[in-house]
Amino acid sequence: QIGEKLFKYKDFIFPLELVTPEHINSLQTFEIRDSDVFLVTYPKSGTIWTQQIIISICELDGGLNEYANNCQQMAWLEYKTKEDLSLRPSPRLFTSHVTPPLMPLGLKDKKTKIIYVMRNPKDVVVSYFHFGKVLTLYETPKIGGSSWFDHIRAWYLNRDQYNILFLTYEDMILDLKGAVTKICRFLGKNLSDKGIDQVVEKATFKNMKKDSKANYEFILKETISGDFMRKGRIGDWKNMFTVAQSERVDRMGGSNPPLFFTPLLLMI
Ligand code: PPS
Repeated sequence: QIGEKLFKYKDFIFPLELVTPEHINSLQTFEIRDSDVFLVTYPKSGTIWTQQIIISICELDGGLNEYANNCQQMAWLEYKTKEDLSLRPSPRLFTSHVTPPLMPLGLKDKKTKIIYVMRNPKDVVVSYFHFGKVLTLYETPKIGGSSWFDHIRAWYLNRDQYNILFLTYEDMILDLKGAVTKICRFLGKNLSDKGIDQVVEKATFKNMKKDSKANYEFILKETISGDFMRKGRIGDWKNMFTVAQSERVDRMGGSNPPLFFTPLLLMI
């Protein structure tokens, strides 16, 4: 345990209010099924957006179990819950913010599909900043998780061990239909062009903001304040960062970043 509110497990810092050490430990042996689908992100990178896309695709395809909202439909792997997720009927959908060493070991032996969404770290910082109330879970200056760079590197460098599709928030903004089509293909779902268009409609910022199953307002009322559906744009960091701050993030990428860093950092 670190201080009163936090504990560290492997390379990750968690807030005790949301996560218990016992639960995180138990994830290692959590049984995985081939039919499970995982969405993995660093926070503020397009998680609830991609949840909406995955769920809408699976709903149209048929056979999805009924849950009250997207948060319950795509159960969070690491957060405290009274539900025993190992008893959920297939197909199961999961969401997580953790790194490979914390994932269930069985994920490597299975055909389980993982969708990893990343976003320009500068926009992630800005989005996190505006989501400030979440920081009450932490003890400044320590906040939870790992660094953005460690997260992306860990998943990217271990990609051969998993059945994983990498997407960027920026690509989703620039071509939502293309992203929906890619996800649909990866999930092995055969939607018609009309079906794809329906998913795109449900996943636009405007429509998601008023979709009470998807916009996470139900969570805000319960625990934290801040807006999950804030601006939904590329490059908002330019309104907030100084030149020095921007250069600092560029330097943190290191001299030999994985290839995909380059387009991400250059397009902004
Ligand atoms: S969390 O807390 O980790 O689950 O947050 P996460 O969902 O990863 O990220 C929140 C940001 O995603 C934006 N968002 C969208 N952008 C475009 N289109 C759609 N449909 C959409 N839905 C969510 C949301 O606005 C947050 O980004 P910012 O920059 O703060 O607006």
